[in-house]
Amino acid sequence: MRYLDLGTAKQISKIGLGTWQFGSREWGYGEQYAVQDAQAIVSRALELGVTLFDTAEIYGFGRSERILGRALGERLESVFLATKILPVLPLAPVVEQRAVASANRLDARRLDLYQVHQPNPVVRDGTIMRGMRALQRVGLVGEVGVSNYSLARWRAAEDALGTRVLSNQVRYNLVDRGPERELLPHAESAGRLVIAYSPLAQGLLSGRYQAGSPPANRVRAANPLFLPENLRRAGDLIAVLREVADAHSATPAQIALAWVIRHPAVVAIPGASSVQQMESNAAAADITLTEDQHQALEAASARFRPVTGPAAVLRLARTRFGGPPGRR
Ligand SMILES: NC(=O)c1ccc[n+]([C@@H]2O[C@H](COP(=O)([O-])OP(=O)(O)OC[C@H]3O[C@@H](n4cnc5c(N)ncnc54)[C@H](OP(=O)(O)O)[C@@H]3O)[C@@H](O)[C@H]2O)c1
Repeated sequence: MRYLDLGTAKQISKIGLGTWQFGSREWGYGEQYAVQDAQAIVSRALELGVTLFDTAEIYGFGRSERILGRALGERLESVFLATKILPVLPLAPVVEQRAVASANRLDARRLDLYQVHQPNPVVRDGTIMRGMRALQRVGLVGEVGVSNYSLARWRAAEDALGTRVLSNQVRYNLVDRGPERELLPHAESAGRLVIAYSPLAQGLLSGRYQAGSPPANRVRAANPLFLPENLRRAGDLIAVLREVADAHSATPAQIALAWVIRHPAVVAIPGASSVQQMESNAAAADITLTEDQHQALEAASARFRPVTGPAAVLRLARTRFGGPPGRR
């Protein structure tokens, strides 16, 4: 495993574990996964040197936090524990009360990173950051982070907090490279962190899914990337991932992760549906891509043009609710 040194109390592994999957019905992994597999995945992650564990109060309506806290047990003290608040009512006292509730579910004395899950579209971050400041003062929160923030809003949040907002958690993978425009350069120059979510594009980049065999669960049924047409269009990118993977005796998923974390200011938090996936993801931290391989991946990524926008929404609706054959 490799780690990032940003002067935090505990070190942050380049590959972490995302736990939206834990106890969330929309992923559809079932009870055995929530009760047993999740526990085994966390234990294996710890053995492999993973220190970054990401959850949120909204995942499984608190269940993910409970499962993660139970799985970590006493080892919780040694990891960099990250959770998130959904800022529906972003008032300082509410923020403080919600942090305590998260810490209780996790059975943690301290949240190493407390993130604002999404920017509130109506209320600016002054009040929420007042609550964060109070939480830092009493030691319940170590670092403050944001998620799905633009660079301008990240900076404004930092001004409001009066000290660093360590990280911005955003979607970043070979099919969504938006963060490269502003967020990555800023993080690198300012000593901040970008936490890449959906680094495998929710499994698309594993190459496991084809137009005729898409994944079956609510999360991916709502993701236009898994439309048959887009799975077909992704074929070229998957082929390049496979080619690079073969050169490293690795898998396409591992190469997709190695590409994401190649940037010095980026760590990735893939979810895992099995212990084996967790092992494979952790091992990706040790893969070093050559410059040629890096360029080949970026060229294939640029060639991939998925159907997006209203056209994708229409096709999703047809795929879900049926429509004339041949028009999906
Ligand atoms: N801040 C936010 O707004 C936000 C949004 C989304 C996610 N997140 C966080 O980011 C984490 C990860 O994102 P995500 O779950 O959306 O997407 P992801 O990590 O790109 O995809 C996870 C899925 O990919 C498949 N997979 C994982 N490892 C694999 C491997 N080695 N080989 C093959 N397939 C593999 C698994 O699904 P199958 O085995 O079923 O194919 C797994 O459930 C979440 O758990 C959550 O903590 C945050």
